[in-house]
Amino acid sequence: MPTLAVIGSQWGDEGKGKITDYLAEDADLVVRYQGGANAGHTIKVGSEVFALHLLPSGIIREGVLSVIGNGVVVDCDELRTELEMLHKTGRTGDMLRISDRANVVLPYHRMLDGAEERARGAKGVGTTGRGIGPCYADKIARAGIRMGDLLDEVYLWERLDTVYPLKEKLVQSLGIKLEQDKASLLGTLLEYGNLFRPYITDTSVLINDAIKDGKKVMFEGAQGTMLDIDYGTYPFVTSSNCTAAGICSGAGVPPSAIQDVVGVTKAYTTRVGAGPFVTELHDAVGLHLQNVGGEFGTTTGRPRRCGWLDMMVVRHAVRLNGMTSMAMTKLDILNDLPVLKVCVAYEIDGQIVEDFPGNIFKLARAKPIYEELEGWTSASCSPAEIKRKGYGALPKNMRKYLDFITTNAGVPIEIISFGKGRDETIDLRKRRWSE
Ligand code: GDP
Ligand code: IMO
Ligand code: MG
Repeated sequence: MPTLAVIGSQWGDEGKGKITDYLAEDADLVVRYQGGANAGHTIKVGSEVFALHLLPSGIIREGVLSVIGNGVVVDCDELRTELEMLHKTGRTGDMLRISDRANVVLPYHRMLDGAEERARGAKGVGTTGRGIGPCYADKIARAGIRMGDLLDEVYLWERLDTVYPLKEKLVQSLGIKLEQDKASLLGTLLEYGNLFRPYITDTSVLINDAIKDGKKVMFEGAQGTMLDIDYGTYPFVTSSNCTAAGICSGAGVPPSAIQDVVGVTKAYTTRVGAGPFVTELHDAVGLHLQNVGGEFGTTTGRPRRCGWLDMMVVRHAVRLNGMTSMAMTKLDILNDLPVLKVCVAYEIDGQIVEDFPGNIFKLARAKPIYEELEGWTSASCSPAEIKRKGYGALPKNMRKYLDFITTNAGVPIEIISFGKGRDETIDLRKRRWSE
């Protein structure tokens, strides 16, 4: 059964877009299963750069069917914008399917996201403001509108009749006025229904049939393990299960459908928004990582907080996702740092801790325990040479860094990325897909 999941090991922005696009060369389907337009996945193909928020990264590859699963929350405005962007590059976007069960991000979800953040003040989560939390909250509260509902005017009106008056009261209590009344919202949603009608279907049937037929199916995670609603740094997390566990409920496949799990892991750590970050650097090295690494959010443009690689985070991700291998990205950003630190454990209240704690107050008291490794220079690390000769051309100290991580994580690094482009990738996989 050839399936492959690509999951973020840290706090998002690990390079999932690049790695998914790279691996999608062999794929028949690429499926997004959670998150929404809070994601920002950047893909560089030659001189073209794509920043995708909702569309699966497979959409760039010809012949790959891209699927937005039921676990995704769909912002119709954003989806239309991305499809238009794709059309401008000469791609049709026809190879898209959207689950009829995916919940829709409604205009009031964005308003509520902003209002809740303002109310939290200095204790805010630092959300992307895309309405993600309020939309998932409505899904769980059984007050959501789903993509399939947009195809049936009578049913949609009935749903809006139930959910809209409640929302109107809630929004008013926060001092906000809804921009659209119920009838106008119905009109907008029906227009989107017409626009997306050709794509909306039962994607669970589609994906499971593809798997039965031996097609190669990839699942593309958004955000990262540490932003997972259950196992991330709660409450400074997103509102979905970003781990491999989210694939079953978010794509409608059984656990047995998940074979290989590739954890995309940045060679250092970044985080956007608020919340604990034990290895964060507030010094010149942190600034170096931010500037050289171009660490500014794809979705919001906010500067990303930067720090050393944290194996407490990576091991947590290995365990939760059942990672079978890692793809290590952005190694080039570490060039010319004389000493590299890797956090291997925390000290909390005088105790050595090796499993990532669930309590953020405890985490706030954690001190990183580092191992130090020697760095390498850019002079010893020629991209042209690496492209030609592969792994053998990597500087000795870079290989030691990779070996250290592999041993500590207990999982092999099978893909090494040293630049944004598809060809700036070393592929050490012995087999490309599990059969
Ligand atoms: P995602 O959300 O996990 O898909 O990651 P983002 O796209 O938000 O952020 C990763 C950024 O790093 C993007 O700008 C990528 O083009 C870039 N990138 C990915 N891999 C590498 C790499 O190995 N080296 C460098 N220099 N940039 C990379
Ligand atoms: P990709 O897929 C990095 C963060 C936000 C905030 C928290 C909650 O590109 O890796 P939300 O809007 O989801 O309610 O915000 O989660 N966040 C991300 N950080 N990469 C992302 O996606 C993110 N999506 C959400 O900054 O801290
Ligand atoms: Mg991103």
